[in-house]
Amino acid sequence: MVKKKASVFISGNGTNLNALIKSSKNYNFPITINFVVSSNKNAKGLKIAKLHNISSKIYKIKNSFDEKKLLADLKKRKITLICLAGYMRILSKNFIKNFDGKIINIHPSLLPKYKGLNTFAKAIKSKDKYTGCTVHFVNEKLDSGKIILKRKILIKKNDNENSLKLRVQKEEYKAYSEAIFSLFKGSNL
Ligand code: GRF
Repeated sequence: MVKKKASVFISGNGTNLNALIKSSKNYNFPITINFVVSSNKNAKGLKIAKLHNISSKIYKIKNSFDEKKLLADLKKRKITLICLAGYMRILSKNFIKNFDGKIINIHPSLLPKYKGLNTFAKAIKSKDKYTGCTVHFVNEKLDSGKIILKRKILIKKNDNENSLKLRVQKEEYKAYSEAIFSLFKGSNL
């Protein structure tokens, strides 16, 4: 099987990046992680990339010129899928158009509930019974693209933001890989 080349965009810890790298080492997994893009030079995820000999680069995107540089680097590396994993920047319309239908994201809530930040606090405050994570395509509207897959977990009585985050993230690590797997099954993405 010829695997597609993917780039993972991060800004922080990179635990989802780590999970994706692990999955990508499986023979049957449809992608390889060839390039890590970070918006933050102190992102812990950069160390994970280094540990696995994956090239990485920091992009401080302030204008369309910076963005063109990133686009050119991605094309040069023949990247055909972008996986956002805790990437804390909004991608421009133009960027999304260049990778139309080829950018996906993992979000820590059961979308369309709780777009944006502080999803765990919102779920607790609303006394929800369940929360979880969603893998979705990225379009110009925040956390609003077509949903690929959702995974649900029960919110316990004594849960706080931290305990919830830990359990949701555990679910994310499986969900992101499953979503990628399902995307490529029988498609030419
Ligand atoms: C994840 O919880 C993801 O849902 C959200 O940002 C977090 C990133 O965590 N979009 P990590 O950097 O992968 O550890």
